[in-house]
Amino acid sequence: MKLNTITLGAMAAALLSASAAHAAPQVEVLHYWTSGGEAKSAAELKKMMEAKGVAWKDFAVAGGGGENAATALKARVMAGNAPTAAQIKGPAIQEWGQEGVLANIDAAAAEGKWEASLPPVVNSVMKYKGHYVAVPVNVHRVNWLWVNPEVLKKAGAKPPTNFAEFFDAAEKIKKAGLTAIAHGGQPWQDATVFESVVLGTGGADFYKKAIVQLDQGALTSPTMLKAFENLARIKTYIDKDAAGRDWNLATAMVINGKAGMQFMGDWAKGEFTSAGKVAGKDFLCLAAPGTEKAFTFNVDSLTMFKMKSAEEQKAQLTLANAVLSPEFQEVFNLNKGSIPVRAGVSRAKFDACATKSMDDMAATSQGGGLVPSFAHGMAIDTAKAGAIQDVVAKFMNSNMTPQAAVQALAKAAKTM
Ligand code: GAL
Repeated sequence: MKLNTITLGAMAAALLSASAAHAAPQVEVLHYWTSGGEAKSAAELKKMMEAKGVAWKDFAVAGGGGENAATALKARVMAGNAPTAAQIKGPAIQEWGQEGVLANIDAAAAEGKWEASLPPVVNSVMKYKGHYVAVPVNVHRVNWLWVNPEVLKKAGAKPPTNFAEFFDAAEKIKKAGLTAIAHGGQPWQDATVFESVVLGTGGADFYKKAIVQLDQGALTSPTMLKAFENLARIKTYIDKDAAGRDWNLATAMVINGKAGMQFMGDWAKGEFTSAGKVAGKDFLCLAAPGTEKAFTFNVDSLTMFKMKSAEEQKAQLTLANAVLSPEFQEVFNLNKGSIPVRAGVSRAKFDACATKSMDDMAATSQGGGLVPSFAHGMAIDTAKAGAIQDVVAKFMNSNMTPQAAVQALAKAAKTM
């Protein structure tokens, strides 16, 4: 009897250590998809990885725009303990590449034929020194205005297409006793409004010159002054409790009919959808005033870090491949509000906002209106983007004049 117990105990211990040695391979993914619609999207990736026998370790850091996540990531990488993948995008991928900490995932790209299924402008961003180090997840459009049509109706206003109509609608909503513009006073949200206002005021070519090429002439031009004047006017339609408000709470104000309109990228649509609202009926997605012929893109991507063991490396490639599978591209983007980044995904299940985004992206990439989002880390390096964002946030939160803002902006653009 005693012997048996000992034998059984020993057997159990042996089994345990065997199972530990063969524990499911795991991926740890750092992201900041924590709002209602975003969490649903991230859960789809977890589900897909688990179905492939790979365990999911969630490394979610709340905070819109990803600033908190970026800080957490730096600490982990410095401690020599990088996650498998992190949501890092645009020029920041190159900055991480220079640190020598990114993994080469060419094998996943070859297997999934990425080169052929991704737009060239996306392909090049995913590579560091000619090798794939990141996988794109989606395409978000940033220059949207989210509108509650009931609020417009109550106020006797029409869906605006240009600034004159926009300010007319805002004034009517304000007079009706509601908040005209739902906004969260956080620097990245201020920057999100700012870039759409620059685009709507000056057009895509001006946006490129000013915000992408940081041309001093464009930055100090009367057009930029006009953009800040428009922004100053927008400030007068934001409620007094906006400071620090999270973006999804601002979206909730539009969903609940407390506010009429919000400038935000189409991750906001994920909130409408997860609240059971229908595009074109319960809410409208309009191009931000004056930006109908332009498209500010924001491509989310998972950037891969060097892993030590062969097993971890294999799980990482499995993750990369899953992200670009047509099945994942469909389900993730349906929840996230974005559109698939790769070719060959059926449009059938996507709503009117998503199909408009798909059409507009195709049209603007032909017509020259397709521009990278500055506020979402697509256009310029992180140091310059940070300096410009600081100017915009200061303008939004003080009595700084448009003239002073133009000067400060031009100076910030020279940040090394
Ligand atoms: C963007 C990001 C989106 C969404 C949003 C709010 O920068 O690309 O995926 O997360 O911020 O946090």
